[in-house]
Amino acid sequence: MASKVKPGILLVAFLATCAATPFAQNTAAAIYQSKCQMCHGADGTGNTPAGKAMKVGSFKSPAVVKATDAELLAETKNGKGRMPAYASRLSDAQIHDVVGYIRKLQK
Ligand code: HEC
Repeated sequence: MASKVKPGILLVAFLATCAATPFAQNTAAAIYQSKCQMCHGADGTGNTPAGKAMKVGSFKSPAVVKATDAELLAETKNGKGRMPAYASRLSDAQIHDVVGYIRKLQK
């Protein structure tokens, strides 16, 4: 009775573990992406549907480039025009970090 070769059981638990991106929730970029990008755009120019509807200016405009960190911190904390206030939603440290991220976008 010649037994046929049984198919090798190659059921490897092959889960796509490589997809687990380490993404620290508190990095400035993550805060920007989750809270600011929908209006201000990935590049800070406000080129998004929401940004256009609200007439969001570009972070790269000379006025915003010239504005002091203190001014940008205050505008993020307290809001400005249609821009929501973030004082109750982000910590001072997070607001500080995200303003630092805006400075990077301006370069
Ligand atoms: C719902 C849309 C919206 C979101 C979300 C939003 N902004 Fe704004 N933001 C605006 C608008 C509109 C203005 C322009 C306000 C004005 O000049 O009257 C503005 C202005 C600003 C300014 C002042 C400089 C400038 O361009 O006039 C800063 C700084 C700023 N936003 C930072 C942030 C940060 C940081 C976040 C995320 C934590 C954020 N914004 C999220 C709509 C938004």
